[in-house]
Amino acid sequence: MTTASQLMRIENDAYTEARPRSKRLQAEAERYLPGGSSRATQYFGPFPFFMDRAEGHYVYDVDGHRYLDFMLNATTFIAGHANPDVVRAVQEQSERGLSFGAPASAQIRLAKELCERVPSLDRVRFTNSGTEGTLNAIRLARAYTGRHKFAKFEGGYHGNHEYVSVSVSPPMDLLGPGDPPAVPEWPGQPPSVAEDVVVLPYNDLEGAERILRRRGDELACVIMEPVCSSFGYVPGTRAFLTGVRELTRELGIVLVFDEVQSFRISRGGAQEYLGVVPDITTFGKIVGGGLPVGAWGGRADLMALYDPATGPVVSHAGTFNANPMTMVAGEATLRQLTPEAYDRMNTLGGQLREKLRAVFGEIDVDAQVTGIGSLFAIHFAHEEIRDYRSMMRGDQEMKDLLFVGLLNEGVMLTSKCAGALCTLTSEADVDALVDAVRRVGQRIR
Ligand SMILES: Cc1ncc(COP(=O)(O)O)c(C=O)c1O
Repeated sequence: MTTASQLMRIENDAYTEARPRSKRLQAEAERYLPGGSSRATQYFGPFPFFMDRAEGHYVYDVDGHRYLDFMLNATTFIAGHANPDVVRAVQEQSERGLSFGAPASAQIRLAKELCERVPSLDRVRFTNSGTEGTLNAIRLARAYTGRHKFAKFEGGYHGNHEYVSVSVSPPMDLLGPGDPPAVPEWPGQPPSVAEDVVVLPYNDLEGAERILRRRGDELACVIMEPVCSSFGYVPGTRAFLTGVRELTRELGIVLVFDEVQSFRISRGGAQEYLGVVPDITTFGKIVGGGLPVGAWGGRADLMALYDPATGPVVSHAGTFNANPMTMVAGEATLRQLTPEAYDRMNTLGGQLREKLRAVFGEIDVDAQVTGIGSLFAIHFAHEEIRDYRSMMRGDQEMKDLLFVGLLNEGVMLTSKCAGALCTLTSEADVDALVDAVRRVGQRIR
């Protein structure tokens, strides 16, 4: 029997042999950039392929390969790469100025669009990354409540800043049967992060309630994804989400939904789709149409803390905040996201998940497919994936194999075998992914 490491070598050898230019570029990049890149998730072994260009549903590497792209820059390209309307809007704006030291009207249009779509939004502010969105949302909750601690869920990712970088990917051997510990993500984080961040179990209302009732009067906010991206787009159950909503309201804790990824599942985001409305919502990715973006917004009384006319309470500065290039790209993208476009993507998403499940049954591989709307992920696990721990108990080596195997088949997912559909995805694209998974699955099982 071929072992997993032998299978990995076979897939990696095929990958390496077909990508000499990418291999050379990675070696050159490593001379100037640690690890050869500027983004934690961009590296994978043996080396990442280098992009040449992207168009529609496809990306092309420097070695001449074409990939059917379900990674879509981490779900961002919901209207496809180099979308003609977005490109036109950006071109026109670039001739009038890239960024300004005074406001421009494009930000009003995008803000209005978001406030009209999202149930929790009376006012919104723009920044340049989802990371800054969650950072500012937590700062706002702290200012509003006068408390400085906050709670997040085990395994939840909310960007790259200090305080949310707690128990994002804690080693399984540190997790005991008791309440989830607060585990800093990297060496040198201030010890205060573990003291100031309370960690809760996802999809476990009883466990979360016990901790919230004990620590609630110390907490400024609970930040959470209504659909947890890092577990493979696992939605919170209705009872769990409504339970957390009611508890936070009762305990005077601000509820922050991080919709950086889940905003793509309906016009009003996961909060509309799942029917639970937070106090503050954070955004990123699709809202900037492919250019750097972050945003957060909420009820008028909360957002009033930024209003300089009534006395600035919370600072929010940034040279490129709401720059018009990002604003027009976001506007041109959202304009294409009609109710029909969501229906179509989500229907195809449901079909994809079903077809993938059928394929794993057919080739007799113990796998699970999670996701919601236009989002999906594949796990090699028997038990239901509900939270970080059940996700981690799955076979991670099989995910590595499937990921590289699919690249060899011309299909791109995230390195965790998750992905998203876009407005261009057709039934034929869904079938192409399913067929590629079948071929790789047969090779690696
Ligand atoms: C749920 C979630 N929150 C926040 C972020 C951070 O966004 P950015 O990478 O734009 O800083 C991400 C990025 O992947 C995310 O998935």
